[in-house]
Amino acid sequence: MKIAGNKISDMLSFYREHLKSIYSVDEIDELTSIAFEHVMGISKTDFRNKQDERINQSELVLIYDIAKELATHKPIQYITKTAWFYGLKFHVNEHVLIPRPETEELVKLVLDEYKKEKQMNLHMLDIGTGSGCIPVCIEKEAPEALVHAVDISPEALQVAIRNAADNNTEVHFVKADILTAQNIDKITFDYIISNPPYIAKSESTQMEKNVLDFEPHLALFVEDNDPLLFYKKITDFAKENMNAGGKLFFEINQRMAKEVTDVVAEKGFKNIIVQKDINGNDRILWCIKA
Ligand SMILES: C[S@@+](CC[C@H](N)C(=O)[O-])C[C@H]1O[C@@H](n2cnc3c(N)ncnc32)[C@H](O)[C@@H]1O
Repeated sequence: MKIAGNKISDMLSFYREHLKSIYSVDEIDELTSIAFEHVMGISKTDFRNKQDERINQSELVLIYDIAKELATHKPIQYITKTAWFYGLKFHVNEHVLIPRPETEELVKLVLDEYKKEKQMNLHMLDIGTGSGCIPVCIEKEAPEALVHAVDISPEALQVAIRNAADNNTEVHFVKADILTAQNIDKITFDYIISNPPYIAKSESTQMEKNVLDFEPHLALFVEDNDPLLFYKKITDFAKENMNAGGKLFFEINQRMAKEVTDVVAEKGFKNIIVQKDINGNDRILWCIKA
């Protein structure tokens, strides 16, 4: 496929043609503008208004290469190695999940609850931190909180540590497996937060190629025979290691709200609330340790 010329508009036409079988026109225009921003540093407004501007050969090659990667269904965030979350910029790579808008709602809920507290130096723990998006955003808005985070993946932790530093936040990261719960600091936490792996392997057949082929399966999947494994283990951990009155916040599989409710209720947690995400799906469950 040929590019008609070296104006921004020529590249946009090329992207629209090259990616039309995967993305809508609006999505392609957005992706093209992100590619230009990444390679040339031009804003979205300039991208829209300066369509007749010419680009040089080396920039043209870089932007062309991005189109080729996008055509393999690779998410733009993994190509630019950047994701925006809760107004902050995060480095991402193939070892971490791309932070999702639904998880921003979880962060907002935690911060809203935190603002109602009398004491500000609460101990919080994020389990399965990935890019570190949850603890970094919490610490950014609640610097008096003492924020801890764990993940089983050393590669993910490297990314999270970098993100905490890039965003000038202090988060205490530890490599730990929540299924054995060894290695986690012996602290009695006030808030425990987790967006654990929650997609049953059998659901993978319905998943998009951009997720399935590029995002880390360690972050996504649980065995079909025990889809609630992480919720059970984290609830057990919270029961043992959280103050009475402490709050447990989960992101959940939209099909499992009832089952996760049963898990936390059975362990004696109270005030169980299920909240919907922007798409109207059950997505957040939170409760209080009695
Ligand atoms: C759904 S991702 C969430 C990532 C990030 N918190 C977010 O919301 O974007 C789940 C994370 O749990 C981690 N994980 C998987 N198994 C784990 C285990 N046994 N112990 C601790 N973390 C685990 C994965 O490496 C992954 O980073």
